[in-house]
Parts: sequence; structure tokens; C-alpha cells
Amino acid sequence: MNEDFIKYQAQTSPYPLGMEVSYAKGSYIYDTNDKKYLDFVAGVSACTLGHQPARVNQAIKDQLDKYSHVMVYGEYSQSPAVAYCKLMASLLPAPLDKTYLVNSGTEAIEGALKLARRVTGRSELISCHNAYHGNTMGSLSVMGFEERKQVFRPLIPDVAFITFNNEADLDKITTKTAGVLLETIQGGAGFIQPENDFLKKVRARCNEVGAIMILDEIQPGFGRTGKLFGFQNYDVVPDIVVMGKGMGGGMPVGAFTASSAMMDLLSDNPKLGHITTFGGHPVIASACLATLQEITETDLMQQTLEKEKLYRSLLVHPLIKEVRGKGLMLAVMTESAAITNEVILKCQDKGLILFWLLFEGCAIRITPPLTISNDEIKEGCAIMKEVMDEVLLSATL
Ligand SMILES: Cc1ncc(COP(=O)(O)O)c(C=O)c1O
Repeated sequence: MNEDFIKYQAQTSPYPLGMEVSYAKGSYIYDTNDKKYLDFVAGVSACTLGHQPARVNQAIKDQLDKYSHVMVYGEYSQSPAVAYCKLMASLLPAPLDKTYLVNSGTEAIEGALKLARRVTGRSELISCHNAYHGNTMGSLSVMGFEERKQVFRPLIPDVAFITFNNEADLDKITTKTAGVLLETIQGGAGFIQPENDFLKKVRARCNEVGAIMILDEIQPGFGRTGKLFGFQNYDVVPDIVVMGKGMGGGMPVGAFTASSAMMDLLSDNPKLGHITTFGGHPVIASACLATLQEITETDLMQQTLEKEKLYRSLLVHPLIKEVRGKGLMLAVMTESAAITNEVILKCQDKGLILFWLLFEGCAIRITPPLTISNDEIKEGCAIMKEVMDEVLLSATL
């Protein structure tokens, strides 16, 4: 299969991991040789409830038996999407009460950026150095990592960058600014949390100059940090919250939520200001609804903080400089990208899936399903430490 994978399927890098997947269940993925891998990555934060979560699978099957795609987004009233948006409104603080459903995280970012421009009538967009918001042209324009965007220029104009957690940069947000887009916890940069009330200060500055505050919750969202959304840990409410990844329990989806007053502008002057064929797809929306119900009706969110403590108590080793992040969004920092690489690849050989972060070469990503058990955490951390012992030993020989 791997030969055909390389030959016929477009690649994202010269070195794909290339595991030949057979099936996946709970916290494990099995390859075509029936080798079992413990999953500490969850499809890069997407498989919130593990692999083949019963409630989500059942919701998908039930919906498939009723109807699948029937009409483009926004024309017909379809119960999975309506129920999802209604439940989301009940879980979010005021005035975040209206959700636009799309197909991926980057598409949700595009919608949010358009909404900020539409609401303010201004054009300038501000985001952060080392920020990642997706790979379509608008999202790429606000990505704060020049090396990976240079060859795709020209991108959209009127984009400026500030440094996350740097208060001195807040002056760059002015009455010309349409929207300020931040990841609540910077992901690709190394799971960097906001410090010294940074988000509250951005909120205050946006209020002062009339700019829209957009928080990208595509990684911390859906319970990973102990609350449904990361921003709920920092006593701040954005104008637009953007979600994706873990929202669909493994199904492809994205969404952005704002006040009705703002969101209604997208359907007026011009009408059809933002449209999509498959957004709100009934099968996907039923998966999202089941995922959201499961997260909010169980104690999975509270458990993430206990599980973080367990990880932190186990991940102590001379090769580990620091463990960053919150809840089940953790970055294990080593001294060098070479060590990180070696650990990730050797762990995969020993049946533990780890991964990289986009822009921080020293970080090892740990974002398991929220459903991971304490025993599985212990099993995976033991493999990590065994591998780190080997790496340390080979370096000292
Ligand atoms: C913070 C953040 N924003 C946006 C995106 C883009 O989401 P998608 O890959 O679904 O387009 C990602 C994906 O990794 C992300 O981590």
C-alpha cells in the first residue's frame, strides 16, 4: 500500500510516517501487520473521544439511514445541525449565540476573517508571530511563519503581526483594525499559554478601538483544557470563536460562532456573503452533536486536568527540559530537534504514537483522546522513558 500511497496520493512532506492502517479502536490504532499502537496524538487533536466512539458511530449510522446531503448550507432546516447550533448557544457565554457550520478549521477561519471585515467595514487583520490558522489563502496570510508562506505570495494584503504575550504590541491594534485573530493557546509555536492576562488586555484594546476579537479554538477546543473552550480558563469572551478538529469526534468539520447581530450581516448586503455546499452536513452534524453531548454530559473535561497531573508526574527524565501546555494539550520539550525526532520515531517503533508541532522543533506533541485511561497513560509514558534512556545512553557512548 505504501508504494501506491507515495505514487498516487499527493504528499505533504518527503518523509511521511507511512503507517499502513488496518483499523482503530479506543486509544489504539492497528496496522496491517496487526501491530498495535497506543495513540497519544488522536489524529492531531481531532479524535476527542478516541477511535470509533460508540455514541458518535451510532449517531452517524442513524442519520445515514434517514438522510444525507439534501441541500446546500442554509436553505433547509435539518435537525442535526439545528440541534447542534442550539446546544452550542446554550453552552457559550453571551452574546455568542449563532453558529455557522463549515467543513474544516481553515474554512472557519476564512469565515471569521470575512465577518470581522463585514462588521467593521475595515480591512486590517492582525495575528501573531508563529501563529497557525490553516492553509487556505486567507488563513495562510495570517500565519506567522514566513518560511512556509513566502513561495505562495502575494497573499491577502493589510495583515500585520504582533507577538503573543507581548503587551507592548497592543498599540498596533488601532481604529484601522478589523479583527485580531489569536490562538487561545498557541499550538504550532509550542503550546504557549497566555500570560499576565494577555487575552483580557487584547479584549480591552479591541473594545477601545472597535476591533473584533477572534479566538481560534481549533486545538484547545472541545474539552481538551478542562473547559469546553480554552478561553473559558482566562476570563475573556471573544466576539468570534472558531472551532474545528475535536468538534466532530473524528469527522471533518469547522464552525465559527458570534452574536446573531454580527452573524446576520453575513447573509445581507450582499446576500450570500458566505456560502458552502456541505457545511452543516447532516451526518457530520450528527457526529458533532453526539460528541458535544458526550463531552458535556460526562466528567471527561474535569478528567483532563487529573490526567495532565498524571502525565506531568510521569514525564520526568534528564532529556525532558519542560512540559508545556494545559490539560491534554501537552508539549514535551527536549534540548534539540534531533532528540525530539529520534524519540518520536523510536516510540512509533515500540508502539506509541507521538507527533511534532509545526514550528517548534524541540516539542513532542501529546494530545491523546480525552477518553484515554490512566493505565494507558502509564503504558505510553513508560515507553517514552524507555526510549529516552536509550537515546541518552547512545549519546553518552
Ligand atoms: C490552531 C489551528 N487553527 C486552524 C487549523 C486548521 O484546521 P484544518 O486543518 O481543519 O483546516 C489548525 C489545524 O491544525 C489549527 O491547529
